[in-house]
Amino acid sequence: MLLSQTRARMAFAVKDRLFRWGGFQALLEEKELRMLTQHMGFRHQWDEHRRFQMDLIQREGLQPSGHVMEIGCGPLTLGIPLMQWLDKGHYTGLDLRPAVLGVAHGQVAKARLAGKNPRLLFTEDFGASELGEEERFDMVWSFSVLFHLTDELLEACLAQVARRLRPGGAYVANINAEMPESTWLQFPFNRRDPAFYGAIAARHGLKMTERGTHESLGFRLDASEKNNRLLRFEHG
Ligand SMILES: C[S@@+](CC[C@H](N)C(=O)[O-])C[C@H]1O[C@@H](n2cnc3c(N)ncnc32)[C@H](O)[C@@H]1O
Repeated sequence: MLLSQTRARMAFAVKDRLFRWGGFQALLEEKELRMLTQHMGFRHQWDEHRRFQMDLIQREGLQPSGHVMEIGCGPLTLGIPLMQWLDKGHYTGLDLRPAVLGVAHGQVAKARLAGKNPRLLFTEDFGASELGEEERFDMVWSFSVLFHLTDELLEACLAQVARRLRPGGAYVANINAEMPESTWLQFPFNRRDPAFYGAIAARHGLKMTERGTHESLGFRLDASEKNNRLLRFEHG
């Protein structure tokens, strides 16, 4: 072996040790968690939002053989454990922020889930332009998304959901009916009663049922999000 190659190997070994002794790996992981949390939108809540959503979607009747479309998938808070559990090719995530979709692709690679053939789509019309004419889903899911839609976008979202749900399928989404209105990133943060969503859904042939507050459904954090409510929509 050439002297220069030996030197390079030794230098790398020293840097590698320094990296580990210096706790840089832990620092990198903390930075990544901060970045994921910013994309998700709720400080210090990453683990619980992941656990809670995964638990809920199973309790709402999803099977590993089901096909899922997640509207507003963000950094795959739910997406990663969900695609681990679902059959290959059964997860489709939609979002309209290219930056968060980039992060999502990185999370798929890190979790070694490329073999599950997840599909991540950039869309500005809830998949109308990207999905195949005949594509239908057993479960459509949106968590922390509906309150970020304007009335006009909400109408478009529920129209697409009505079109994409298989007979017997369900759209499950949470809403804010308590907290004051504000903004998050480029989005509004709306407060609306369940009846508001029910009326729009009915125009698209969907029947809505209230499933309860996060707290009543087992959300474990004492944060204001515990008051968010879960709604389920099905063909009427
Ligand atoms: C608060 S984050 C929640 C992300 C993820 N559902 C979670 O639980 O961590 C809301 C996400 O919805 C996305 N979003 C907002 N409006 C959207 C729209 N019209 N179409 C698709 N995604 C949208 C945002 O880009 C963002 O990633």
